[in-house]
Amino acid sequence: MKNQEKIKNLYKEKIKKLLKFNNAYFEKDSPIVSDSVFDKLKEELIELAAKNPYLKKIENLDNLIGSKPSAKFEKIKHVKPMLSLGNAFQIKDMLDFKKKINNFLNISSEIELSSEPKIDGISASLRYENGKLVYGLSRGDGIFGENITENLMTIKEIPRSLKNPPRIIEIRGEVYIGKKDFEKLKDKFANPRNAAGGSLRQKDSAQTSKIPLKFFAYGIGEISPQIFKNQTDLLNQLKSWGFPVNFYCKKMKSIDAVEKNHSDLESLRSTLNYDVDGIVYKVNNFDFQERLGSTSNSPRWAIAYKFSSVKASSKINNIVIQVGRTGAITPVAKINPVTVGGVVVSNATLHNEDEINRKDIRVGDTVTIQRAGDVIPQVVSVDISKRNKTSKKFIFPNKCLCGFTTKKEISMTTKKIDSVRRCTRGYECNYTAKEKLKHIVSKDAFDIEGLGKKVIDNFWKLKFIKEPGDIFNLSYKKIEKLEGWGELSIKNLKNAINKSKNIVLDRFIYSIGIRHIGQENAKILANFFKNSQNFSELFISNKRKDILKNLEELDGIGETQIRSIEDFFSNKKNSEIIQSLMSFLNIKNYQKNIKTGKLSNKNIMFTGGFKKMSRSEAKALAEENGAKILGTVSRKLDYLVIGNSKPTKKKITKARELKIDLMTEESWYNLLNR
Ligand code: IVH
Repeated sequence: MKNQEKIKNLYKEKIKKLLKFNNAYFEKDSPIVSDSVFDKLKEELIELAAKNPYLKKIENLDNLIGSKPSAKFEKIKHVKPMLSLGNAFQIKDMLDFKKKINNFLNISSEIELSSEPKIDGISASLRYENGKLVYGLSRGDGIFGENITENLMTIKEIPRSLKNPPRIIEIRGEVYIGKKDFEKLKDKFANPRNAAGGSLRQKDSAQTSKIPLKFFAYGIGEISPQIFKNQTDLLNQLKSWGFPVNFYCKKMKSIDAVEKNHSDLESLRSTLNYDVDGIVYKVNNFDFQERLGSTSNSPRWAIAYKFSSVKASSKINNIVIQVGRTGAITPVAKINPVTVGGVVVSNATLHNEDEINRKDIRVGDTVTIQRAGDVIPQVVSVDISKRNKTSKKFIFPNKCLCGFTTKKEISMTTKKIDSVRRCTRGYECNYTAKEKLKHIVSKDAFDIEGLGKKVIDNFWKLKFIKEPGDIFNLSYKKIEKLEGWGELSIKNLKNAINKSKNIVLDRFIYSIGIRHIGQENAKILANFFKNSQNFSELFISNKRKDILKNLEELDGIGETQIRSIEDFFSNKKNSEIIQSLMSFLNIKNYQKNIKTGKLSNKNIMFTGGFKKMSRSEAKALAEENGAKILGTVSRKLDYLVIGNSKPTKKKITKARELKIDLMTEESWYNLLNR
């Protein structure tokens, strides 16, 4: 017992020290100890906590240290953002991907793809100016990276200089640890990827150099002048410059080739000395890549086709329902715990009522469970031969967990009945409300570090947080008394919450969780409202009607979104909750990055199909040149561009009436020199 007291005191003392060092570093910006002393102290604390679990009650180190990238590295803005990739899980998703690029480019022939193993490591960007490596950055949040040049320099495979390079070139690639080398580090890290990440973020590059990091180059960021026509040429040149380029990179076109390639590499996977979690497919031609551009998070010209998941068999003990933030009711199978790809799974999603009926899934059934990457495990099939004769068909409950009847909606676009049942009570349903809170604190919304899903569950249970505004009115005195919350973790939480009060309008709109308003639509709305005062007029019922009418003009906002906004704001409880939340915030005005160009300040609209490009590409091109796209013909419109194939007569007539400039497909190409 005495010994335990001693350890507790030692732990408290060390925490106090860490607090002091942290404060000097982060608050005062004047460190009082060297990085290595700081890191050593952190390591000692981690070790102590791991050996003596009871210390968690004093202060949970997870709340303190976490895995956040160290704020100690200098932040540098990526000249070209480091985007992430959309995922494909089935060959059908790859077909969709191919169709979409064909449609966007308005090309019917098959488009050449560059296929590259997706190395499961940490991405980095290396900037060379006049052939000399000037710095290397981590991905960071994709916009700002951390300057980790010294650590990257420990990788022998990275050339320090390039022969006959363009004036500026940023080489992007994956830093990884070979599986064999990882064997020696197994006790310290969960997997090679974590080990590579941990090593790259070491403040002391001497520590990094102890771990044999490796590199595969696969792309570029900024380049001037552009000297490449396509990805294959780029990869070849990277090889000649001395960068390691993965051996299995190749070109292909057809979906059959994609399918074969996938199974070929998957069977090779275990024999490779590095972790591969799928295949990246990129449109090979750089002109096409440029035309395709990207959405807010990922390029339209590339996709990651993940390797198929691992499967296992188990028995369903029960089927329960879960309520999501949009009120969607998801059935979940409670199964006998089974290990699927190294992870113990005891819950698996059954998607929705239709899916249960289609597969006739019942309690007691023996089923196959599948887990793919970080996606929720799912029930894929039933082994009917193992079914008990007395088993009964599963009757899907028509009530939400809150007791109220759920509904199936009719989709406004397809006019079909939705397969998902929903509780439509919003914040009035306790179950939906809790999920809405989790959305509000999430990364793309308020991004409050330290207030994750588990903490929300706990604070909800304790009635600390019932609605969004409560986040900004927390009683830290009460939290202090909870297990695992000490001085520093509380301070960090307070800071994170305070920081999140300054939120830009588009993020705010996305955060409040209006159905059918995702990140892209939130940006469109924020661009329309500009500031929170204008946005707040939605709360006033007699103003709302006019606003909603005006929203019809916005390209991207349709009937579904408008109806959803109307539903959201006409609900009294929603209004109260959101207005109360707003009283705690400093909502910053939205400023769209308006491009200047030939169509600056012009409102434009398209009707009909084009010969040389798709409507999506025409819109993207117009925006690139500074135009705003409108969704309806009104006096505000400057040009109506009429495509050759099936333009809407009504729109043309109305535009003529309003004396709006009409443009043919040909004059549109001429205007932009296409
Ligand atoms: S292309 C916009 N190519 O996968 C293009 N990525 O989510 C994005 N990765 O962050 C990257 N191998 O860390 C690309 N051959 C490859 C890759 C690759 C691995 C990683 C990379 C990226 C993530 C995509």
